[in-house]
Amino acid sequence: MRNSQAFFKDVLGEINKIEKIPEQGCTSEVSMIVTEDNTYILKSAFKERYREWLKMEAEVLESLSFQSSISVPRFYGFTEDEHASHLLMSFEEGITLTAALRNAVTNQEKRRLIRSFGQFIMQLHEQEHVFKADSDWLETQLKRARIYAESGQADGSLELLEQLIANKPKRVKQTMIHGDCTTDNVLVIDGEVRMFIDVAGMTFGDPRYDEALAIRKFRHNPEWLASFYEGYSRHRVTDEEFSYFEEGLYEFF
Ligand SMILES: Nc1ncnc2c1ncn2[C@@H]1O[C@H](COP(=O)(O)OP(=O)(O)O)[C@@H](O)[C@H]1O
Ligand SMILES: [Mg+2]
Repeated sequence: MRNSQAFFKDVLGEINKIEKIPEQGCTSEVSMIVTEDNTYILKSAFKERYREWLKMEAEVLESLSFQSSISVPRFYGFTEDEHASHLLMSFEEGITLTAALRNAVTNQEKRRLIRSFGQFIMQLHEQEHVFKADSDWLETQLKRARIYAESGQADGSLELLEQLIANKPKRVKQTMIHGDCTTDNVLVIDGEVRMFIDVAGMTFGDPRYDEALAIRKFRHNPEWLASFYEGYSRHRVTDEEFSYFEEGLYEFF
């Protein structure tokens, strides 16, 4: 394992400025680094579980480095030391969809953004799969959920987990998925949803998980929901599927 400081010196050279960005996530500390030739985002994690997720994110970004059909930040490196893990990626000029919806003045503008979100997710779900198929994505998630629940690291209880195991939804065709597809984890660039961030969970899996997390904030707004499905026209989760994924599985992550 290389020392983080040496790593940064090697990759970045002279740093002109480093500052925490105003919009932070909940698993990491995010800073912007400006050097002579480039601007970067540094995402650092300190807790064991979040360090594990950051490593997964680094692996996803690295494996997507040589393609352009799934839009994600460019990978520059990952390093770990005793107390922290750090992921270095490109800084992208954009704001999260959550922020864009907050800033949008008219309802029409909000609906356009939501439609674009639907379209963007649909493109991912219709992608030729870039990653090897996981044997059974849901099975893997339920196993991970158990580990988190048993070690007290999840909101969901073991009782809820047993219910999820006993009531798995009928299988659908698996696709490439984002795996934490909320309005916080996509960037809006020039008025359109154009990039996925926070991609630790991106893999070949159940697209209903993305769909459920995508609509969670506006599921009860019929107009907005309709806009989403104008963009995402391939499938529509049922109430049972929504609650399995959003109120069930998501409680463990
Ligand atoms: N490559 C990037 N370019 C610009 N801003 C970014 C980038 N990656 C993350 N951000 C900003 O940092 C925030 C937190 O990042 P995120 O990866 O979602 O962290 P967390 O895992 O803690 O949720 C995002 O909401 C976004 O505002
Ligand atoms: Mg996030």
